[in-house]
Amino acid sequence: MGKEKVVLAYSGGLDTSVIVKWLKEEYNYDIVAVTADVGQGEGELEGLEEKAIKSGASEVFVEDIREELVTDYIYPMVQSGAVYEGKYLLGTAIARPVIGKKLVEIAEKVGAKAIAHGATGKGNDQVRFEFAVKALNPYLKIIAPWREWGLQSRSDCINYASAHDIPIPVTAEKPYSIDRNLWHISFEGGILEDPDRLPDKDMFRLTCDPMEAPDEPEEVTISFEKGIPYAVNGKKLKPVELIEELNQIAGRHGVGRVDMVENRLLGMKSRGIYETPGGTLLTFAHRELEQYTLDRETYHYKETIALKYAEMIYYGLWFTPLREALAGFVNSTQEAVTGSISLRLFKGNMVVAGRDSEHTLYNPDMVTFEADDLFDQKDAQGFINLYGLPLTIKGIMDRQRKKQLQEVAKS
Ligand code: ARG
Repeated sequence: MGKEKVVLAYSGGLDTSVIVKWLKEEYNYDIVAVTADVGQGEGELEGLEEKAIKSGASEVFVEDIREELVTDYIYPMVQSGAVYEGKYLLGTAIARPVIGKKLVEIAEKVGAKAIAHGATGKGNDQVRFEFAVKALNPYLKIIAPWREWGLQSRSDCINYASAHDIPIPVTAEKPYSIDRNLWHISFEGGILEDPDRLPDKDMFRLTCDPMEAPDEPEEVTISFEKGIPYAVNGKKLKPVELIEELNQIAGRHGVGRVDMVENRLLGMKSRGIYETPGGTLLTFAHRELEQYTLDRETYHYKETIALKYAEMIYYGLWFTPLREALAGFVNSTQEAVTGSISLRLFKGNMVVAGRDSEHTLYNPDMVTFEADDLFDQKDAQGFINLYGLPLTIKGIMDRQRKKQLQEVAKS
């Protein structure tokens, strides 16, 4: 009988290389290394299989899940309008459930008993991976080495690696904890832990410094059908290409940087820097289109749903009945969200530069300051009297009570 198998979420970095060895020693498992290609970039995926085998894995899977990530996760998120704490476009959070889903699928395919990941015991990512696994296959055991082993730091990992003949990946000393995918890149830790300090200029990867952006603005038009973007500047693009194209455009104007202190699920505040160039354009343009096409009450209600939706993505609650029910609501609001929005980008900033939709509810004849025969301004008087009736009543009662009190005081 062969050994039991564990599926490891493998990145090729130092931590997960050490984890391969540690899992073998500690649990005597055969290691199935799984890397999800979520658009972390060529560099990170190069030579991964060989690296994993050298570190001691017996099987390696590199799965391109970029299209699934965009179509089934990012686009529904954009439709929902989810933004965490007003700033974070959820780039790391949205990728975790789909990676978790792949880990489960492969575990089932190869007959693994357990899933392991390299997320630390302080972050959100451990929660997100594990919620996905629990939701999709609660019988899989979950192993999180960072919560178990005695290693505390990067140098502990390096020592462990040299003591166990693990090839140390030749990456430059990492000054930050970085997570990159098609949608964004995040930086945390290191000197960023001082929230009173600007990040180093050379840290950024997807956007240029807004101060060094071109002196000429650029316009970009994004077209949506039922809330799903499908074309940039009139050119139809597949989901992955569309995001890549928008990343290029926004990136060269320095659009999409965020510096924030956020509330983690585990309770502490952390400071992070994000670059989400294309996502910033998409989120903004989608909202513009909704403001142009949705009726007032739906739009307002949707805004409250967006807060909850963002929180659920951040908390790793993607595969839950409530999130799915909210998605159902969001979906039905998107019927009319078809049309194009143009944006003008300039030195880290963007403004709306044009709106076009056959489904708009904007009616210039209605709102015009010029004479019109659609709207009788006299009607506004009755509306104000009735809608303001509670104010009128309270005003009257307050005055009556005040007068009574004054009379009592006098007598
Ligand atoms: N704070 C962000 C979040 O929780 C980013 C996390 C980045 N993760 C990482 N392993 N570097 O979504």
